[in-house]
Amino acid sequence: MLIMCRRVDTTSLDEIASAIGPWTKLVWLESPTNPRQMVSNIREIVKMAHAHDALVLVDNSIMSPVVSQPLELGADIVMHSATKFIAGHSDVMAGVLVVRGDRLCMDFLYSELLAKELYFLQNAEGFGLAPFDCWLCLRGIKTMASRIEKQ
Ligand SMILES: Cc1ncc(COP(=O)(O)O)c(C=O)c1O
Repeated sequence: MLIMCRRVDTTSLDEIASAIGPWTKLVWLESPTNPRQMVSNIREIVKMAHAHDALVLVDNSIMSPVVSQPLELGADIVMHSATKFIAGHSDVMAGVLVVRGDRLCMDFLYSELLAKELYFLQNAEGFGLAPFDCWLCLRGIKTMASRIEKQ
């Protein structure tokens, strides 16, 4: 399978419109961006992507789930670098993928829910976190809201 990747400035809806089409499977964006803090219009990007049956993944690492919840804006997948706000103690590297769980993932390839597909890949590829790293993330998430409010 050939996968083509096009980079666009996602703060520009016009640039997205010119790059997106029926061939698009995933629109992957970061908002705000690190380090330039450029903000994209997630709700409008979701409308454009869904019009072409493409999924939208938002990297929400810089906002944290306390400040922004892209699933509420229509995104299909939210990713976080849990290394940052979620774990919060600079002693673990981790990532999180969050899905709504009710959207079918490209029926011609899969008939399962997106969450199940991601879980399958996580299990099959072996990139799940070790138990101690999970514990460090759970320890961090308990103070995440307080830390972010202070910051
Ligand atoms: C927005 C964003 N996403 C993901 C990452 C990757 O994070 P990690 O250090 O957990 O691999 C970074 C790292 O700086 C980042 O800024």
